[in-house]
Amino acid sequence: MALAYSGGLDTTVSIRWLQEKYNGEVITVTVDVGQEEDFEEIEERALKSGAIKHYFIDAKKIFAEEYVARCIKANGLYEGVYPLSSALSRPLIAKEVAEIALKEGCDAVAHGCTGKGNDQLRFDITFSSVAPDLKIIAPVREWNMSRDEEIEYALKKGLPINPKKSRFSIDENLWGRSIEAGELEDPWIEPPIEAFKYLKPLEETPNNPRELTIGFRGGVPVSLDGVKMPLERMIMELNIIGGLYGVGYVDHIEDRVIGLKSREIYEVPAAQLIIQAHIDLEKMVLGRRLLEFKSIIEKKWADLVYSGLWLDPFRKALDAFIDETQKEVSGEVRLKIYRGTARIVGRRAEKPLYHPELITYSSKSVFHQKDGEAFSRLWGLETHLWHKRHKL
Ligand code: ARG
Repeated sequence: MALAYSGGLDTTVSIRWLQEKYNGEVITVTVDVGQEEDFEEIEERALKSGAIKHYFIDAKKIFAEEYVARCIKANGLYEGVYPLSSALSRPLIAKEVAEIALKEGCDAVAHGCTGKGNDQLRFDITFSSVAPDLKIIAPVREWNMSRDEEIEYALKKGLPINPKKSRFSIDENLWGRSIEAGELEDPWIEPPIEAFKYLKPLEETPNNPRELTIGFRGGVPVSLDGVKMPLERMIMELNIIGGLYGVGYVDHIEDRVIGLKSREIYEVPAAQLIIQAHIDLEKMVLGRRLLEFKSIIEKKWADLVYSGLWLDPFRKALDAFIDETQKEVSGEVRLKIYRGTARIVGRRAEKPLYHPELITYSSKSVFHQKDGEAFSRLWGLETHLWHKRHKL
C-alpha cells in the first residue's frame, strides 16, 4: 500500500500499525508543498519505521501555480478568515500518492487523517476519484488511540518521533500553517509563541512601519517591491516579512463539515497580505455588479474547497467564471504593515474603471453635473411617489 507520509506522529505510527494490522508492505510518499522540513530526515524516519520504499515529490511549483493562484483569484477565505491552506494542499498530495500507488501496483492507499476533521474528506474523495479500485485505509480512524497513546505506542515500538514536537498538530505548507491540539483546545487560552514559525510577538515587532508593493497580472501576484518573482518565492518572502511585523494571525472558531466547531489557529502572513491587496485591486478594475456577484461565487468556491470537493466539476465551473473576471486585474497595490496590521495605502491598475477626470471635485472635472438632476429624479421616482400617497 502507499501511505501519504508527512513525517509527523500520526503517519509515523501508521507505518508500523499498517504492517502489523494488514500485514502489508508500506510505501511512503512525502509531497513537498512548501512545508520546509528536512526531507532527508523524513525519508530516514519512514524507512526506520518500516517503510519498504520512500518517494519524495517536489510539488511546490504546481501547488503555487495551480492551487494557491486559484485561491488568490477567488479571494478564498473560509468563514471570512481561513485562506484554505490545508484544504488546498490535500487534493494535490492525495493525487500524487494515488498515482504512485497505481504505478507501484498497490492494492490500497492510506492517509493519516482522523475521523473528526475535514482532511479525511479531501483525501478520501481524491483517492476514490483518481484510483477508484484501490482500498482506502485510514489507520487513525480505525485505531482510536489518543495523541498520548500514539506517543506511547511509538516509544514502545522504538519509532523515531519527537514527543515534545508532537504536542500540537501542525499542518504546514507554502500558503500557511494550521495549528491545533494541546492546550489550544481550550479556546480561552492564548496560543503560546512556540506554536508559530513566522509570527513575532507584537511587542517584538519593529518600531516603524514597513511599506510593501505587490504587483499583479491577470489576478495573480507577479512582483514584490517592483522585483518580478515566481509566486512560490513571493509567498515565502511575504511569510517572513509579514511575520516579522506580526501580520498573519488567525484565531477562530471554525465550523467543520461534519458539524463540529473547533478552535483553529492559522499563521498566514503571505495569504492575508496577498488576498487583501487582490481584493483592493479588483475594486479598481471590476464593475459593481460583477464584484457583487463574484462575492457569491467566492463563498461557494471557498465552501466547496473547504469541504473536500476540489475535484468536483462544480469547482471547475466556478473557476471558469473566476478566470474570466481576472483577465484585466493587473496593477500594483501599496500596503503598510505595522504591529500586526496591514493597511492599504495606495493602488494603481493598468486598466482602471476608476476615472479621476470624472470623480474629481477640481476644475479639471469633465463630468456633466447637470445630468445628476434628471438622474436623481428618476432614481427616486418610486420612493417619491409612495410618499405622495402615504404621508410620513
Ligand atoms: N481546520 C483546517 C482545515 O480543515 C486545518 C486542518 C489541518 N490539520 C492539522 N493537523 N492541523 O482545513
